[in-house]
Amino acid sequence: MKLNIPIEETIKKRVSVRSYEAKKLSEIDKEKLLKEINQLTNPFGENVRIHLIEKDVVSNGEKLGTYGVIKGAQTYLGVSVDKSEYGLIAAGYQFENLILYATNMGLATVWLAATFSKAQFTTAMDIKDDELFPAISPIGYAADKRSITESIMRKTMKSDKRKAWEEIFFQDSFEKPLSKEESNMYTKPLEMLRLAPSATNAQPWRIVKKQGSYHFFETHKGNANEDEKMIKEVDLGIALSHFHQTALEAGLTGNFEKQSDFAIDIPENTNYIISWKNLD
Ligand SMILES: Cc1cc2nc3c(=O)[nH]c(=O)nc-3n(C[C@H](O)[C@H](O)[C@H](O)COP(=O)(O)O)c2cc1C
Repeated sequence: MKLNIPIEETIKKRVSVRSYEAKKLSEIDKEKLLKEINQLTNPFGENVRIHLIEKDVVSNGEKLGTYGVIKGAQTYLGVSVDKSEYGLIAAGYQFENLILYATNMGLATVWLAATFSKAQFTTAMDIKDDELFPAISPIGYAADKRSITESIMRKTMKSDKRKAWEEIFFQDSFEKPLSKEESNMYTKPLEMLRLAPSATNAQPWRIVKKQGSYHFFETHKGNANEDEKMIKEVDLGIALSHFHQTALEAGLTGNFEKQSDFAIDIPENTNYIISWKNLD
């Protein structure tokens, strides 16, 4: 489903916010957001669930913990999904669509996959034992100034920077960078993908164009644990949201499909995720 917002402008505007005004969402904003939450879908056929809680209506709400990273937030969103092959990809995709929608409304957010108390939020959001619960985000109004913690985090992770085009986009094999002539009408969707947020700003997306398809891969460090690998899948879902929504805005047609016959040598610590088949 295409989001009904100016996508390129919104992607450029989005930034992680960890310092909030200590006030609740206005009724108008909350209603608009809830309406969108009910309409969101994903192209992977997964049943993604989005939760919204307000600190003052949750018992023990004042204890909802983000390890001192988030200041002032009163309302939180969370995302959960059934355990399945594309569950985390779909969760990343659908939650990022919501984050972009909220950004367009002038609301502030930040993906949190590590710095939140999962046990407290699992209870508060009533997440079931058999669901995957990869992330939450505060949602509200940005404070005028970033906290010192936040400024230090941004510097450490180089949050204002992204990897160069030729480090992440390839043609036919992982050996050859993709030229912009070759990416042609997909240059913009790829540029917008490059601006996506990712956990610790690691940008684990690698894309190889071969014939009429864009093949998406995830890469991680050799010593990554299972939790870290799970988050990489969420990162890929986020990247797919930026790519897909920009392609839809440009009127491009195609679909996501799992392919197996693309004959590309895959480097170590890299996993194939899905392909976009261009139908224009
Ligand atoms: C899946 C995911 C998980 C993240 N987890 C955390 C987190 O636990 N704590 C945090 O402070 N930021 C977290 N972030 C925010 C990233 O650090 C941030 O997106 C990145 O540094 C780029 O900065 P930007 O979003 O302002 O462009 C996460 C981002 C993503 C996409």
